[in-house]
Amino acid sequence: MKSDLALMIPGPTPVPEAILEALSRPPIGHRSNEFKVVLQEVYAGLQWIFRTQRPVFLYTASGTGAMEASLINVLNHGDEVLVLSCGVFSHRWAEIAQELGLQVHLIEVPPGQSNTPEALETFLKGPQGQQIKAVCMIHNETSTGVLNPIQALAQTVKKHSDALVIVDTVTSLGATNFEFDAWGIDIAVSGSQKGFMIPPGLSFLAASEKAMAQHQQCAAPGHYFNFSKYEKVVEKGQTPYTPAVNLTFGMQKSLALLQEEGLEGIFQRHLKNQQMVRQAVKSMGLSLFVESDTLASPSVTSVLPPDGISVDAIRAGIKEQFNIVIANGQKNLTGKIFRIGHLGAIFPRDILTVVSCLEVVCHQLGYQKTPLGTAVAGAQGELL
Ligand SMILES: Cc1ncc(COP(=O)(O)O)c(C=O)c1O
Repeated sequence: MKSDLALMIPGPTPVPEAILEALSRPPIGHRSNEFKVVLQEVYAGLQWIFRTQRPVFLYTASGTGAMEASLINVLNHGDEVLVLSCGVFSHRWAEIAQELGLQVHLIEVPPGQSNTPEALETFLKGPQGQQIKAVCMIHNETSTGVLNPIQALAQTVKKHSDALVIVDTVTSLGATNFEFDAWGIDIAVSGSQKGFMIPPGLSFLAASEKAMAQHQQCAAPGHYFNFSKYEKVVEKGQTPYTPAVNLTFGMQKSLALLQEEGLEGIFQRHLKNQQMVRQAVKSMGLSLFVESDTLASPSVTSVLPPDGISVDAIRAGIKEQFNIVIANGQKNLTGKIFRIGHLGAIFPRDILTVVSCLEVVCHQLGYQKTPLGTAVAGAQGELL
């Protein structure tokens, strides 16, 4: 017999039992009064977590679907966009934009670093700055474990241009503070299989009045993701097309659990998870990929393997012996870092377990720089 699988990757994240039960309810009609009540609760919960008075749209698509929706709804062929790239997912904005026939300008930083308001300001004050119709950025770069200073980046855009501020909050929402209205964000997208602790398949999008006004000028906003169609029915507790009814049940439960914990509780728990992992890793003499605590992600921590030991061997040891999955690096960082996810339904108990298992596996593989128990003690120290 094996222990249950523990997902410690930055999505999909573990699904709590109460949500599994909600997901397994028999489906009901998506135009029924009963489902309307579910959707109204979900819409209100989404406004609570996005911290917005604006309606939030619910798409039956993964996060990338909502990213594409962000661009096709407000931009026209040939429009110029600026993408702030700091890793695989932020760079996805550029790929989508290119494929939609937009002109893409890129500000790129090396992996492990964040985008800075200074570089953004320089670009916007430069010769190409005033042509930019939208600036796309990411809050939490999952591929490296970096948290971007979104409030400052959004402020910089507002100060120097009329461009829309479009933000990927796929792995930051439900993990750290994000304030759609107060920070002047125009479009923000998130997804179900991360901080919301439900399986993949839903994404969420908030759009400001300014974004909706720009949407009215858009020549080909598409059909399925069309903002107007979603905006028209949110008030009625509906979606324009058949939604993933059972995932919506899961979402209702997820939001209830999150509201019970409260925003501050959620943010503090993620911060504690992060501090425990970082302290454990440092205690056992391994290097963090993101050295600065200020830039470190609340959702995922990237770690360099010890010299001479491969990421594959560490991940395989942890999976085979303990049935815990941790993530590899992505693209150029494959084999160079491993990533420990601590997003969603992850608690200090899980962190104590994973760092202990990491320590055992590293010892088995010949890394014995510190005595067994050092990493665990480092993590424990954050709890005292
Ligand atoms: C920050 C971020 N943005 C976008 C995505 C893409 O989301 P999806 O895989 O749900 O399409 C991911 C997926 O991991 C992500 O972490």
